[in-house]
Order: sequence, then C-alpha cells, then structure tokens
Amino acid sequence: MISFSALGEKLGGPCGIQELMEDLGRAMSSEPDMRMLGGGNPSAIPEMQSLWRDQWRHLLENEPDRLDRALVNYDPPGGSPTFRRTMAAFLQRECGWTCTEKNIVVMPGGQAAFFDLFTLLAGHDGKKKILFPIAPEYIGYANQALHPDAFVSIPGAIEELPDHTFKYRIDFDRLRAALTPDIAALCLSCPTNPTGNVITPSELTTLREIAASHSIPLILDQAYGMPFPGAIYTDWTPVWDENLIISISLSKLGLPGVRTSVIVAHERVTTALANMNAVLALANGNIGQALLQPLLEGDQLTRSASEIIRPFYQAKCQLANRLLREALGDRVPYALHASEGAFFLWLWLKDCPITAAELYQRLKRRKVLVVPGHYFFFGLAEPWPHAHQCLRITFSQPEPVVREGLQIIAEEVIAAYAG
Ligand SMILES: Cc1ncc(COP(=O)(O)O)c(C=O)c1O
Repeated sequence: MISFSALGEKLGGPCGIQELMEDLGRAMSSEPDMRMLGGGNPSAIPEMQSLWRDQWRHLLENEPDRLDRALVNYDPPGGSPTFRRTMAAFLQRECGWTCTEKNIVVMPGGQAAFFDLFTLLAGHDGKKKILFPIAPEYIGYANQALHPDAFVSIPGAIEELPDHTFKYRIDFDRLRAALTPDIAALCLSCPTNPTGNVITPSELTTLREIAASHSIPLILDQAYGMPFPGAIYTDWTPVWDENLIISISLSKLGLPGVRTSVIVAHERVTTALANMNAVLALANGNIGQALLQPLLEGDQLTRSASEIIRPFYQAKCQLANRLLREALGDRVPYALHASEGAFFLWLWLKDCPITAAELYQRLKRRKVLVVPGHYFFFGLAEPWPHAHQCLRITFSQPEPVVREGLQIIAEEVIAAYAG
C-alpha cells in the first residue's frame, strides 16, 4: 500500500470542491437526465459562442503564423509579453487603472491563481493567515489552505429585507477584532460565489482603508464581475491600486476550457506568481490569450460584457428568482439573498428541520444537483447553524432545466418543513 504524506492526504483526499466538480462533470457528460443546478459552469450563450468561433476561425485563416507560434512555443511563465501589454492597456483605457504590464501575470485559471496566492501569502506553517471578511465565501478556496489554521472567516451580518430577501453585510467590529498581526491578506469574491452579494462602495472603501492601515493586501476575486465577464447587476466601479490584488478570469466569458486568468497586483506579487508558475506548470496554456487578445485591443469585449453577458444572466436571475418565489409562496420561512451578481440563488431555509446536506441528497435522488451551504463556511471560529440552512442553486443552465429543477427544489423544501 503506497502511503501519502500528511499534505498529500489533505490535498489528494476527497473534499467539497472535488465532489462538486465530479458531480458537475458527470452531470454534464454521462447523466443527461440530471438537472445541473450545482456548479459554476457558464451558460452556452449563442452570441458568445459565435464570437469565440469567429476568433478561432480568424486565427486559423488569417493569422496562421500566430496560431503556429502559440502552439509550438512555451510562453514565459507569467504569460505572453504582448498579451500582458495589451491587457494592461485595456485596463488603463476601460477602467482608468494605472497598471502596466509589470502588474499583470497570466495564470492557469483563477483556481490555480488562488492556491498560489494563498501559499505565497499565508504559507504552510499556520503562522500567517488569510482573513475572509464575509462567510459564506467561495467553496473553491476552502481546501486551499496548506495549514488547518490558515483561513479565518467572519460570519456575514444578516440584514433581513422585505419580501423573503436578505443580504450579508461585513461585520466590521468582528473584522477589526480578528485583524491580529498574523493576518497576511484580506480576500473576498465580488460578486460573491455563492451568494451573488456585491459589497457596497462604502464597505469596499472601509476594507481598503483597513488593509492599507495594516499594510496587507486586499484580494478581490472578480471571476463574475468587472471589467469582464460583467455578470453584475448593481453599479460597480472597478478599482485597483498596488495594495489590491485583483483576479480576473476568462472562464465566465464562456471559456472555462482554456484555463486562463489574470492577476493584477504589485510587481512584487506578479513576479512571485510568475516564478511559482514556472515551478508548478512551466508556462500557461496560450490559446486563451491568443483568442482574447484581439478583443482587448478594441471595445468589443467591454461591449459584449455589457450588451450580451450582463443582460443574459440578469434575465436568467430574475426568472429564477420569480419561479422559486412563486413555487415557495408563503408556505415556508425562507429568504433569498439579494441577487446582485454571478449565476446563483442563495436560499436560506430558516430553522429547516433537515440539514442542507440531507436536502442535497433528497434532491440528487430526484435528479436535481445543488450545493449544500455548509461547504461555503470554512474558517469560522465556532459552528454556525445558519451554514446548514442554506443551498446554492445555479441558474446558468437552459431554461427548461432551471424551471424543472426549481419546481422540484420547492417541492422538496415544502416536504422537508412538513416533516
Ligand atoms: C469566485 C470564483 N473564483 C474563482 C473561480 C475559479 O475559476 P477559474 O479557475 O475557472 O478561473 C471560480 C469558479 O467558479 C469562482 O466562482
């Protein structure tokens, strides 16, 4: 029997994100009758698919040399110099950021970028920690801590709103109390996966001030947000300075298959990440960069984000909200998180007699995949019953799948309360 190291057991063993990706992968490939309301897969938006096909065709037919070069050459570990220059110019132009190519590093997807970032900042010995200002937070981070004490989360302060709605706010008193000298960075996804929360401008300003006054970076994961893909339904001004580490991914543009993302940060951070990339992967895949680069040179990407992607997901979000609210009526004490971005409904089942994990099993038996909430509450100082009362429901799949799935979810939720 081959034995693994403690770290090998931890990283190589089962975990929430691995179960989720297995469920998702099976549902998308070999279980066509499964209604996949579980993962963060982007929708197959026809206009975006046609845009990527056009880019691909253009490369093949009009720029075969560029395609050949992309296929036959390893890029430098931090990404193609031309792509990094173009990306910096795009961010200067579209967002008014002062970054240059030195502040840009290409990574093999946001997931890998976060593993590297957390390792870079918090390390493996538990002496440094990452502080997440609002639990719940992205499931994909949960198992990336190399030390069990490396992550600290502050429970979101629940603000109950009318019409079965609620919103998490940052509890700044608890955040400040948790800011011990071993905190290496603050980190949050915005829009947040799983809740669709977008922090308010004043929350963002306060977070930036706190981070700056403690000389630690604030990491903002903008996988769903600005400047692209733009699945954000409230006003948001993209900001950057050398104390912010911004993660931008190509995945939710409809390109998760190219495994490419970008980190915008202080040169010290981008250089370190590029060096880590050399150790872990030699270089990034360069097809994603080759497909995106021409779009960064003009305004087509920004227009696609605001005219195609945002309205597409916003319409799906409104429909999903309406369907689930109609199906649940006033029969159970539920609340949905304010839908301000991303692809998810976050359903809070107050004092539900069964756990979200049990509900997940019941739904899976009825061919509906969701994600039980407790996976998103890592790093808490003490258990929080709320974590077992929430479900994440993805609405990015085709409308018939979402309709049927939400109907079945409502039936099972009502049955759960009926006992
Ligand atoms: C908030 C958030 N961050 C990062 C990622 C990782 O995305 P990728 O590795 O495809 O760039 C995801 C994927 O769903 C996500 O939801």
